[in-house]
Amino acid sequence: MWQLFSRRSKQSEEFDPQNVPQHIGIIMDGNGRWAKKRGLPRTAGHKTGANTFKNVVHYCKDLGVKYLTVYAFSTENWKRPQEEVDAIMNLLRSYLSDAFSNPEDGVKVVVIGDREPLADDIKQQIIKLEEESVKTETVMTLNIALNYGGRLELVQAMQKIANKVKEGSMAAEDISEQLISDMIYTAGQPDPDLIIRPSGELRTSNFLLWQSAYSELVFMDVLWPDFTKEDLVQAIIQYQNATGVLEEYSFENPNYFRRSGRYHFDNGARRVQHTSV
Ligand code: FPP
Repeated sequence: MWQLFSRRSKQSEEFDPQNVPQHIGIIMDGNGRWAKKRGLPRTAGHKTGANTFKNVVHYCKDLGVKYLTVYAFSTENWKRPQEEVDAIMNLLRSYLSDAFSNPEDGVKVVVIGDREPLADDIKQQIIKLEEESVKTETVMTLNIALNYGGRLELVQAMQKIANKVKEGSMAAEDISEQLISDMIYTAGQPDPDLIIRPSGELRTSNFLLWQSAYSELVFMDVLWPDFTKEDLVQAIIQYQNATGVLEEYSFENPNYFRRSGRYHFDNGARRVQHTSV
């Protein structure tokens, strides 16, 4: 018989380098408001936001994050004024080209989302960069969500599965959670442990819909262009306070403790969410 104990009993202000989330998702929000506050065009907010993004990639890699997924352009973002869409696409072009000529050591870039409507030159840049960036040993995988929508991702996965059933290569009864995870853009990657949304909005806006079922959500008041390393660390501390490491205690052998999976605090009360023994 096993009983679960927690080692953390109070909220900590300190960063624990041993408990860094394996996968972080970030909704880079607030560029427009940042620019408006300064009397600048929205595109200036995106430009500064793109610099913040580049810095955050370094910070995450340095902290030991293994997967970082950023929401760069949603399936809804096409509805924005053409000038703004063009400006974001140009920032992407520039990032993809810089990352190709100066690849960041150990960062494997993957673009997730529906590529079909993207301009041909961007599609080519993505293919080149994805090929180039796997040549070094991967320290961190960077998923750039581009023309991404969680619902569209699931629709496309379901279409693939329906086709397999139709052509007889699998039965409807074989559809499982694992199969769906294998059919979406992040196949083979762990689900995000932590999703950060700056800018004060309290929603996840169709970001990693399937993958975020158990993610810790951290909403922050800072606008994305102002987001700093300290903000990232604060979000991770919040994640660390909400999750911890389980220790197991065997009644058959009271001296036997061992580290196991994760637990989550639920409004201060301890609640076991997941254990992996
Ligand atoms: C949301 O802020 C942000 C976007 C729709 C675009 C994000 C793009 C970047 C950070 C730059 C390009 C990215 C890369 C990977 C090079 P918002 O415009 O909705 O802000 P608001 O809510 O204040 O209006």
